[in-house]
Amino acid sequence: MKKRIAFLGAGKMAEGILSAMESADGVIMAEKIPARRKELERKYGVETTDSLAEAAKGAKIVFLCVRPQDADAVAAEVAPFLKKSQTVVSIVAGKTLAKLRERIGAVPALVRVMPNLALRAKAGMCAICAEKTTPESSVKAVGKILGAAGETIVLDEKDFDAVTALSGSGPAYFAYMEEAMAEAGEALGLSRVAARLLSRQTMYGTAKFLKESGMETRPFIEGVCTKGGTTAAGMAFLAKGPFKRAVCATLAAAAKRSKELA
Ligand SMILES: NC(=O)c1ccc[n+]([C@@H]2O[C@H](COP(=O)([O-])OP(=O)(O)OC[C@H]3O[C@@H](n4cnc5c(N)ncnc54)[C@H](OP(=O)(O)O)[C@@H]3O)[C@@H](O)[C@H]2O)c1
Repeated sequence: MKKRIAFLGAGKMAEGILSAMESADGVIMAEKIPARRKELERKYGVETTDSLAEAAKGAKIVFLCVRPQDADAVAAEVAPFLKKSQTVVSIVAGKTLAKLRERIGAVPALVRVMPNLALRAKAGMCAICAEKTTPESSVKAVGKILGAAGETIVLDEKDFDAVTALSGSGPAYFAYMEEAMAEAGEALGLSRVAARLLSRQTMYGTAKFLKESGMETRPFIEGVCTKGGTTAAGMAFLAKGPFKRAVCATLAAAAKRSKELA
């Protein structure tokens, strides 16, 4: 089998990218945990190994998918095995291309991606940036793989702390909103099961409609707010409260942490 794509670290995000790919042919995943390797072999028929070097050697594209605290050590371990024809794609939060370059050596092309967990539902958001010297063909090849898992956008690296705070961490914040809505529904007397269903389907339906229609949020909100009606009463409260300030502060805290992780 000719190796095309290697994953270093086979956790949640690596599985998300893999599951969006048409075929696991030519994919090899390096992972420490034996039970996890078995699970991926069984689920996707993918080749796995406990050796980072074995996975990285000869793969055209090498995804670095370990947690930030492991990234430097993993990059340094595979660096001696990488060639000029290979592209390393880091999805590690906060890790800049310059820092990664220090560890991975001068040889391979480098691409940095900030994905999000929604790629497991093929509805992910991946921001992509690259060094000036990275061949356009490498960026395109990475965009093609990730495009199967949702939307992609090419941005400057200077935007990546903000991207990380918004779309990278965003799924947790939207899920928190869903949880808050469900809890509020329960407080109004709904059963837990009913409140969860109502909250989840409303979040899903709203996101689906906005995405498919391309409608701006403001006219959408106004459309739901009948004058003197229930939504208008709720929105009047929401809009004068600290909600937007809290969202701003939340993203600022995440962006600050992204800077620290570099
Ligand atoms: N989760 C998100 O929503 C999200 C969003 C955007 C970006 N990211 C980035 O994506 C990266 C991966 O996140 P994740 O959520 O997929 O993490 P994860 O589920 O913890 O996966 C990382 C995997 O890599 C394994 N690993 C660590 N060192 C290894 C080594 N030397 N050799 C082989 N395998 C090794 C870990 O095993 P052990 O557990 O045994 O260490 C773990 O199974 C992170 O850098 C994160 O910043 C995540």
